[in-house]
Amino acid sequence: MQRLAPSLRQDNVSLDLISLIKTILAATKEISFRVSQAHLSGLMGSTLDENIQGEVQKKLDVVANQLLKDVLLESGFVKAISSEEEDNSVAGDEDGKFLVSFDPLDGSSNIDINSLIGTIFSIHEALPGVEAGDPAQFKQAGTKQVCAGYVLYGPSTMLVMTTGNGTHMYVLDRTHGGYLLVERNLQIPEETQEFAINMSNQRFWQAPMQNYINDLLAGKEGPREKNFNMRWIAAMVGDVHRVLNRGGIFTYPKDTKDPSKAGKLRLMYEANPMSFLVEQAGGLSVTSTGRIMEIEPTDVHQRVEVILGSKNEVEKCLSYYS
Ligand code: AHG
Ligand code: MN
Ligand code: MN
Repeated sequence: MQRLAPSLRQDNVSLDLISLIKTILAATKEISFRVSQAHLSGLMGSTLDENIQGEVQKKLDVVANQLLKDVLLESGFVKAISSEEEDNSVAGDEDGKFLVSFDPLDGSSNIDINSLIGTIFSIHEALPGVEAGDPAQFKQAGTKQVCAGYVLYGPSTMLVMTTGNGTHMYVLDRTHGGYLLVERNLQIPEETQEFAINMSNQRFWQAPMQNYINDLLAGKEGPREKNFNMRWIAAMVGDVHRVLNRGGIFTYPKDTKDPSKAGKLRLMYEANPMSFLVEQAGGLSVTSTGRIMEIEPTDVHQRVEVILGSKNEVEKCLSYYS
């Protein structure tokens, strides 16, 4: 099995970007270890703090954030970072080439039940004329990402990543401590009979999503004339991993639960990186009005509705909005 760096050189990834990716992955190996030891080292449960979005921070959210922040800001490659667990973007080296946005631990509510969680990251090139401390650095659309990926802390620790040359999957080999390539060019099947949505929010969705899901639930006897299966991991990283591997549609639609929010998921460190991975695997990733990666960001923590997965099913879902 191929090691990480040769697999990236094969895709003509620059040495600087390879070094940055290795820096991020060094932190994920430590996070993977801390996650596995959490119960034994007093890292279960919540802190007394909330993040800027008003969500209670888990102890492991804080630890994972600090590990990533430290390695990235010390690397010399990074001009600024933004994280779910940081109020504002944080300046790094003025001459750093890259910007990194990350969700240190996605699926935090799964921590306390020893279920699937992961780290999501997105890399842009830094803007030369803009100071490291200026959040305007991050006002770049998802189409400008040079790399995106996630590390899943599951039964095995897995990396799924793209640098714009397909979406590849790696497994952390603990015998030598590196990530090994297990599958090149994941391809999401265009057709599917599986969907993922938090059904408990049904009464808050807009009419088109209500109608679409009702038709899926009607199964063989309904207009779709086939039965659908449902899955919900409550960690986007886990749901998207399933979709990348065996197809499906995943959505967190706009709802009226909290009208001040355009959706639950965050553009910069959840929706954009997952969109890059999904599109590179032949799938679609959209809002009800357009491609997610074309959104011009206004805030590092902005939220967005997300509909992604198997091409034909995402198009079908969108047809309910037109
Ligand atoms: P985070 O743990 O980083 O705050 O993200 C959780 C997100 C996402 O991963 C998941 O798909 C969704 O929240 C789950 O939402 P519900 O609580 O509505 O199931
Ligand atoms: Mn998240
Ligand atoms: Mn998180």
